[in-house]
Amino acid sequence: MRIILFGPPGSGKGTQGELVEKKYGLPRISTGDLLRQAVADKTPLGLKAEAMMNGGRLVSDDIVEDLVRERTAEPDCHKGYLLDGFPRNIAQARSLEAMDPKRPEIVIEIDVGLDILVKRLESRRICVGCGAVYNNKLQPSKNEERCDSCGSPLHQRKDDQPEVIRERMRVYREQTEKLREYYLAKKVYTRVDGTGTVEEVFSRISRYLDRELVQAGSIKGLP
Ligand code: AP5
Repeated sequence: MRIILFGPPGSGKGTQGELVEKKYGLPRISTGDLLRQAVADKTPLGLKAEAMMNGGRLVSDDIVEDLVRERTAEPDCHKGYLLDGFPRNIAQARSLEAMDPKRPEIVIEIDVGLDILVKRLESRRICVGCGAVYNNKLQPSKNEERCDSCGSPLHQRKDDQPEVIRERMRVYREQTEKLREYYLAKKVYTRVDGTGTVEEVFSRISRYLDRELVQAGSIKGLP
């Protein structure tokens, strides 16, 4: 099974993706995380991607598709995987089908209004040590400056500045939203209300996944 989480910047794909990974044991593949790692490591790919990411634009399809092709070929993905932030346009969706054609898929759009998204993104903070995600206003660490798990400092992503957030939203509306029609037509799409607490959103997602995965025979039934 392949689970695809899509939704606008700040809708909670990363937050919910981690919970889905933990509960269902499917590895989470976040193209944003893979690209940020490449930027931090200053690899040739990271150097190419950095300016696009900092400007809130999409990195070229061939770069991202290569990353996903490589990662999904690893042994832990044989039984299935969860994609967070990929595909981001129709060309990427088609390329995903071509690279792993037989795998059934479930597509979940996390739906959150613009005013909430902007608040979440402007106050998001990331641990420089372990990558844990906090939110100064909505989900603060105990000490605003440091990570609860590893004690490292927290920082703000460069693309969480107001003008870059606006550009990311524009790109989302222009390119990624089209996936809704695409996956609706394939009858693999559902929309989940992404407002409320993290736990409330996760219980909506996992109610849906429990049903779909049992039906698909991917899990035998859950307690
Ligand atoms: P990426 O990292 O994928 O960014 P994004 O899609 O813009 O999504 P975010 O990571 O900003 O948000 P999220 O939905 O994961 O929300 P989160 O859980 O963190 O991509 C970054 C860049 O990489 C792109 O702009 C592009 O340049 C490039 N890229 C990536 N994939 C690509 C692709 N396929 N093709 C081309 N380019 C690509 O939550 C946000 C905040 O809200 C957090 O602080 C969290 O604590 C808080 N929060 C979450 N849920 C709740 C809740 N229910 N209540 C209160 N707070 C909450």
